[in-house]
Amino acid sequence: MTNRAIINADRPIGTIDRNIYGHFAEHLGRCIYEGIWVGEDSEIPNTKGIRNDVLQALQGLNIPVLRWPGGCFADEYHWKDGIGPRESRKRMVNTNWGGVVENNHFGTHEFLLLCELLGCEPYINGNVGSGTVQEMQEWVEYMTSDGESPMAALRAESGREKPWAIKYFGVGNENWGCGGNMRPEYYADEYRRYQTYVRNYGANKITRIACGASDFNFNWTEVLMREAAPYMDALTLHYYTVPFEWAAKGSATDFDAKTWFQTLRKALVMDELVAKHKTIMDKYDPGKRISLIVDEWGTWYDVEPGTNPGFLYQQNSMRDALVAAATLHIFHKHSDRVRMANIAQTVNVLQAVVLTEGGKMTVTPTYHVFDMFNVHHDAELLDVVHESAPYALDGETIPQTSISVSRKDGVIHISMCNLSHDEAATLSFELRGLTANDAPIAGTLLQGDALNAHNTVEQPDRVRPVPFAGAERQADGSIRAVLPPASVAVLRIG
Ligand code: AHR
Repeated sequence: MTNRAIINADRPIGTIDRNIYGHFAEHLGRCIYEGIWVGEDSEIPNTKGIRNDVLQALQGLNIPVLRWPGGCFADEYHWKDGIGPRESRKRMVNTNWGGVVENNHFGTHEFLLLCELLGCEPYINGNVGSGTVQEMQEWVEYMTSDGESPMAALRAESGREKPWAIKYFGVGNENWGCGGNMRPEYYADEYRRYQTYVRNYGANKITRIACGASDFNFNWTEVLMREAAPYMDALTLHYYTVPFEWAAKGSATDFDAKTWFQTLRKALVMDELVAKHKTIMDKYDPGKRISLIVDEWGTWYDVEPGTNPGFLYQQNSMRDALVAAATLHIFHKHSDRVRMANIAQTVNVLQAVVLTEGGKMTVTPTYHVFDMFNVHHDAELLDVVHESAPYALDGETIPQTSISVSRKDGVIHISMCNLSHDEAATLSFELRGLTANDAPIAGTLLQGDALNAHNTVEQPDRVRPVPFAGAERQADGSIRAVLPPASVAVLRIG
């Protein structure tokens, strides 16, 4: 069966906020330490302690925003432990993640340097669960106060005269769980109190982000919106794609067609979740002032054999590439409310874009999707009527294809994926609302030699994008594309 789409090029329906392509880096496993931070004395080439190879790879993605320091770690993090001379910084135990010693060598200054090197906005997540209002207030003052103030003086003493610009600040993380096991009514009140002291110093203007729900916890969204909407600029949502159940998530690379299907089916649940949380938000905020930020999403499998279970290290295959592409399309679709998303997590943890092993690294299939989809950053989202062929397995059915279309600088980009593990997808695109239908077509394809194809430091190019020759303009001006099974492609028209 054919997959058909009518693209209404004269009907832009919104803008795809580049922040939907955001990332998340927590003090967890080998994400920060080893993955990003190696220290100035390391043999691994680095820029003021940040490893150059990873930095360069991440710079290639044009990351718009990076969330830090957690996650669950955020609600046990005390920022003052992470400033001043590194040798004398307090050592603590990372109780959430593997019980390892955290030496606090990567703190506020190091994170904000990383953001400067990446050219991205920092998104700082504050501590509500085990921190105080004063501690949060002082952190914001430390980073952003431009006048004479105790924290600005402390900042200068620590080597930074000029304040940083901090646009995004989260007031707690998963406060229904690792962030304090609070009831929504209690957290709503705590949120109102804490955010009062998240002040705008000078010209700095902070987007105050309230901790939102996970998965199907609609009551949390309802209560937060009812009790605290006027005090927030954004509310979060967390959803992870777990193929079957948490107790037995399965391997990242050793899986069959049934597991492939189930993983993609679960990834597509994001659409329903976002739609339902949005409906609740619409009730209290019909003008859509408050953003929905999906600041944790991605696949979550069993850790790689022999690795620390608390480090959440997993490989990343073509299956993850498909999850990423289909999920990003869902965020595009909901871009009237979803204005930021942060995939978990940047390096060596969960659905990472970069994996390292000692001094070596590789980028993952998920990295390539983010790279190929760069064209959508801040682009105009075009109206599309898409009819997908079904993809059925064991009595369950999901759409075979997922597509999204945007325009920037006069060029139209169609990103598409074929979720089927074994059947090629024929797609027919009718472009309406254009004065001429003869613009040149070029494309890029990401396809593996197996469903579980993945990159390793020994074989870093097993999965990489190649030119896509499967699209042709037809005599009637439409475009016909044949997409191999289990693949992602981006077409450029113009
Ligand atoms: O990303 C890993 C963890 O998942 C985060 O620390 C937490 O917020 C979530 O439960």
